[in-house]
Amino acid sequence: MQVVIFADAQAAGAYGAGLINDRLERGALNVLGVATGSSPVPLYQALAADPHPRLTGLTAFALDEYVGLPKEHPESYDSVIDRKVRRPLGLDPARVHVPDADPERLETAGERYEQRIAEAGGVDLQILGIGATGHIGFNEPTSSLASRTRLKTLAPATRADNARFFDSEDEVPVHCITQGIGTILDAGEVLLLAQGEQKARAVAQAVEGPISSMCPASALQLHRKATLLLDEAAASQLE
Ligand code: F6R
Repeated sequence: MQVVIFADAQAAGAYGAGLINDRLERGALNVLGVATGSSPVPLYQALAADPHPRLTGLTAFALDEYVGLPKEHPESYDSVIDRKVRRPLGLDPARVHVPDADPERLETAGERYEQRIAEAGGVDLQILGIGATGHIGFNEPTSSLASRTRLKTLAPATRADNARFFDSEDEVPVHCITQGIGTILDAGEVLLLAQGEQKARAVAQAVEGPISSMCPASALQLHRKATLLLDEAAASQLE
């Protein structure tokens, strides 16, 4: 696990975009794993500002989707990915995948998503944020480190954190479909971005704590090519 500390989120995002452009240049990046939330936004903005010619040919897989929001809802992850990733990066809509959280098909959603990722040849590089709970994707504490894409319940703390995107906390869905920790660890390379004091404890546990399902991000210690791009506040509790 490599940790790089930057003065601010913009510098971290620019570094991440540079790394992605390098992989594109070398022909080593065809399938990109994308996260929603605030943390990767500066990276997406930096990619869009200076697009590599191969960028628009990427296939993308989102980490997760809420259950119970129609796809058209502005805060469904399908909509968020469309707004923050697909359109600004000019990706082909047919190649941008988000888990299918239709209540009618939940039972098979995880398996179908895993199959799609496998058919695409696996994720070459996965972009991640980290929750204050230590979650990656929506794998909350106690998630199995070998877990695959499946139905999960959001932790109350995560629903409270994500209430900022809704009119009230009650509107934040309770369930989601998320890639598992095992799924995330299968990516060829992982790039996690974290900013702000509210992430400092989770970051310290992920980097310096024991590998434990109580801090799902600590599983990244097992990954041979995981890089954390932090601002100084997110790095403030590292030894
Ligand atoms: C998003 C996701 C989450 C977020 C995490 C951090 O698809 O799976 O793990 O990355 O909750 O969210 P932000 O970046 O909004 O602090």
